[in-house]
Amino acid sequence: MKHILYLLFFTSILSAQTTLSPKVEAIYQQMTIDEKIGQLNLITPGGTVTGEVVSKNVNEKMKNGQVGGIFGIRGAKKVRQAQQIAVDSSRLGIPLIIGMDVIHGHQTIFPIPLGLSCTWNMDLIEKTARQAAREATADGLMWTFSPMVDISRDPRWGRISEGNGEDPYLGSQIAKAMVRGYQGDDFTDPTTMLACVKHFALYGAAEGGRDYNTVDMSKVRMYNEYLPPYKAAIDAGVASVMTSFNVLDYVPASGSKFLFRDVLRDEWGFDGFVVTDYTAINEMIEHGVGNLQTVSATALNVDIDMDMVGEGFLMTLKESLEDGFVTESDINEACRRILKAKELLGLFEDPYRYFDEERASKEILSDEFRAFAREVAAESFVLLKNEDDILPLEKTGKIAVIGPLADSRRNMLGTWSVSGDHSKAVTVIEGIREVAGEGVEILYAKGSNISDDPEFARKVNAFGPEIVIDERSSAILLEEALIVANQADVIVAVVGEAADMSGESSSMANIGLQPEQLELLKALEKTGKPIIMVLYNGRPMTLNWESENMDAILDVWFGGTEGGNAVADVLFGDKVPGGRLTTSFPFHVGQIPIYYSMLNTGRPNFGETAQKFRSNYLDIPNQPLYPFGYGLSYATFDYSPMVLSDTLFSNTSDIKVNVNVKNTGDREATEVVQLYVRDVVASISRPMKELKGFQKIRLAPGEEKQVEFTIDQSMVEFYNVDLEKVSEPGLFEVMIGPDSQRLERRNAILKK
Ligand code: BGC
Repeated sequence: MKHILYLLFFTSILSAQTTLSPKVEAIYQQMTIDEKIGQLNLITPGGTVTGEVVSKNVNEKMKNGQVGGIFGIRGAKKVRQAQQIAVDSSRLGIPLIIGMDVIHGHQTIFPIPLGLSCTWNMDLIEKTARQAAREATADGLMWTFSPMVDISRDPRWGRISEGNGEDPYLGSQIAKAMVRGYQGDDFTDPTTMLACVKHFALYGAAEGGRDYNTVDMSKVRMYNEYLPPYKAAIDAGVASVMTSFNVLDYVPASGSKFLFRDVLRDEWGFDGFVVTDYTAINEMIEHGVGNLQTVSATALNVDIDMDMVGEGFLMTLKESLEDGFVTESDINEACRRILKAKELLGLFEDPYRYFDEERASKEILSDEFRAFAREVAAESFVLLKNEDDILPLEKTGKIAVIGPLADSRRNMLGTWSVSGDHSKAVTVIEGIREVAGEGVEILYAKGSNISDDPEFARKVNAFGPEIVIDERSSAILLEEALIVANQADVIVAVVGEAADMSGESSSMANIGLQPEQLELLKALEKTGKPIIMVLYNGRPMTLNWESENMDAILDVWFGGTEGGNAVADVLFGDKVPGGRLTTSFPFHVGQIPIYYSMLNTGRPNFGETAQKFRSNYLDIPNQPLYPFGYGLSYATFDYSPMVLSDTLFSNTSDIKVNVNVKNTGDREATEVVQLYVRDVVASISRPMKELKGFQKIRLAPGEEKQVEFTIDQSMVEFYNVDLEKVSEPGLFEVMIGPDSQRLERRNAILKK
């Protein structure tokens, strides 16, 4: 009996071990403990620096076998040199894994992820990741730190721009699409790369929207609302996971047994490798949970394999092994997981297989890739207002293009476009000139600075001059704008945020337009000319005055390399806007966190005006300014009443829900038909609505299409207080409509 138990014990250890090919196993067998620890070390020589520490003596370390991977170096030549050092000069010649933040495109830049999510087009999103992988792999890269799938419901948090908005269901679909796009289904194809889902976990729920801040959340919320997109990426086969900077339950994520051992490895069965975020191990010292040796041992002990930049593993793991704080088998396993990733990538066959100068010169920023980027950008724009159908514009007359973002190449790509070259980006004024053609006279004035505040500009300009304070005074800028405006038939005001007013470490307490830009809009409005506001932004903004006083508002996020052309395509109607918000736009910053899938209170107030002893504010409404799912088109759509095939469903039978959608406009256009469900009575309070399905359809003028959804038991499952995944029989509301507020409702019942 005892023997059998021992046998079982050993088999379980053996089966838990990552299996390597005979060739790689043979190399592994020759490795010293120092070389194994070296594989766990990820360094950056300084290309992408998001923290205070930069790796030192990089070449020496690579020669000594003290480096497993490198990231953040731009340019195929440099990347190749690094690989050469590892392969030719280290004792065992183990190739490096070479990573990069390829976030929304590599060199051909697509809209920022939040914008991309507003396309609600999974094929398109997948294709952007595919194209990014094609460019990046030709440039010598093989591992991207994407997708970022952190749910966020706080627009103050600058990194909301890097994610897919507030909804777990939509976020999960996007996570899958991105992983498929980067990784394809075959790593032997040298145009695919490893993806890395991040930041595990819950980084988007930082208190007060302040970056890196504490996260504290119930497990029920975590399982139902925040974990699903990470899980979706794991289910889609993502090869690696990145930790997050925040604490959770008072434990820094990079030292969280709960997150990495219990959830990621045991519950979800993840067998790829885990990398920390930038110096996240060292930051545990600041979090107050130990010295470098302790926190490094903690990270390894919770199953983290690779240490980004901080070198805590490199400096302390051997000592911890001698002191008995970590086991050799844990070091071995972390090393094996990293070797496995390199094996999957084919690096042991050919360490240079990802350098393809010929393909790079043909594909990177090719006409074909740029044309696709232009299409994607247009599809990401959300038309928030279009009074009297002022848009699209005619290609005649005089147009005044005014605003600090109209001619600002530096700001077109958006945050985290590390390998993007902003000099290759098309500005709005260039796009307008190109698309409008000869028949339109274009006048231009800057009108105002993005901000007049030099101190604010200094902070935002960490990566370059995004906010350029004009030598001319604000009064002169404004005067010039008014002269131009008064000559024109219509004003296109291009305003908003600089690219790095969102992104990492770019939290904002005020999420409205900067005062000088608002002043500009107010002055323009007094001219009485129609104004189309084109908004550049990496986060939802408060736009109350604008929503009342502008004739049209087109939210264009940061559209990337071809953003300026795409703006013009939409303004002049060559493209019809079809984006829908994936994040609520608050009416006031005081409503945050704001999201559509709230729980009911015991004292709800669904009306417009505040009532005593009801859940509302005395001074602002409960509702957002623009809700989740919202967006206008140049066409209009009619929804027929929905038809349910049955009112009862069970674990063996489902309900088909049908609705006919008709294009009642005179333009071909897309509509996103959205399905929401509410579990009316359950063992715990459930959200008043949750997105459960959507279909993006294209309709010619007058065309009508039937859209069908299936309601089944799996769709209404949730995690209960004991964190068991259950579906509970009873009453459900099924809702269909064009956004999260304009919904038709029907009842359905889940039978026992
Ligand atoms: C960010 C990560 C990024 C890493 C490497 C960190 O500061 O949080 O998202 O992948 O830097 O650039």
